[in-house]
Amino acid sequence: MENVRDENMVRITTPELADKFIDEQVDEIRKQVGDGKVLLALSGGVDSSVVAALLIKAIGKNLTCVHVNHGLLRKDESKQVIETFQEKMGANLIYVDATDEFLDQLAGVEDPESKRKIIGKTFIDVFAREAKKLKDVKFLAQGTIYPDILESHGIKSHHNVGGLPEDLKFELVEPVKLLFKDEVRVVGEALGLPHKMVYRQPFPGPGLGVRCPGAITRERLEVVRESDAILRDEFDKCGLAQKVWQYFTIVPPFKSTGISEGKRTFEYAVVLRAVNTVDAMSATVEEIPYEILFKIRDRILAEVKGCNRVLVDISPKPVATIEWE
Ligand code: XMP
Repeated sequence: MENVRDENMVRITTPELADKFIDEQVDEIRKQVGDGKVLLALSGGVDSSVVAALLIKAIGKNLTCVHVNHGLLRKDESKQVIETFQEKMGANLIYVDATDEFLDQLAGVEDPESKRKIIGKTFIDVFAREAKKLKDVKFLAQGTIYPDILESHGIKSHHNVGGLPEDLKFELVEPVKLLFKDEVRVVGEALGLPHKMVYRQPFPGPGLGVRCPGAITRERLEVVRESDAILRDEFDKCGLAQKVWQYFTIVPPFKSTGISEGKRTFEYAVVLRAVNTVDAMSATVEEIPYEILFKIRDRILAEVKGCNRVLVDISPKPVATIEWE
């Protein structure tokens, strides 16, 4: 398959067009890989999930999915990957809990770029280690999509497992590389993936690591993860989840004084952020009604251990960026 989208290519906007695309890709994949074995790094994001579902349909157990939990995933994210792919779709799935390895590597590291590099490198190390354990794998499937190719000017595709060691050479299988995100979603629904997985908001590769500014600690990571889960739950309930582009919590690396049951506390503050954008180059802030903010505040203060304050970030991009680091 060429790396350039033909101008006449029909946009996949309906279930019928998605079914046609799926049939074509299943044929293509079978033609390309024959009875060869294929490996896929499955994060649970929409792109890798759609590629997994396509390959399961095409080659079943000849696909091995590796799901690396780097300890920076959102609440229950790994559970959803295991339920969807292993339990419901019968995929060959290797689950690797590498939380300790990632958090050990990140201990004490404050610089945002260094944190990203460590997360990227550790991911490659863990994935390569798993890949080497498998025998006779010739192909590597990737959820490269068309904007990845455009952003890299067609020279090399940006992907999660770029930079694998020299002794691990694979032929690439990239069935959605000519699709835009909205098309990948239509295909995902047609493949029967859960709506929540297909329409989930963008989530950065370094995960909750960038929402725990400064040096990551397990304690602060738990406050981020639990408060994020409450924010998402409340946004689902009030319908904002369908409207807002990206929403999450941040827990800065400082504590402030509070009072609880007559005793002074000294704990973290949770920052709420909800933004809208078209291309992530600029962003506006969603005006969340106070009634909803108060509900989220009450739940976070009551349910999340280790925080005594809730703040709202109302800064647009520019001058701020969407993430805090
Ligand atoms: P910023 O913070 O630069 O973010 O305004 C723009 C969009 O990019 C996402 N983001 C990342 N995504 N790896 C990713 O895959 C990263 O390191 C990363 N940093 C930011 C961010 O969530 C927002 O959607």
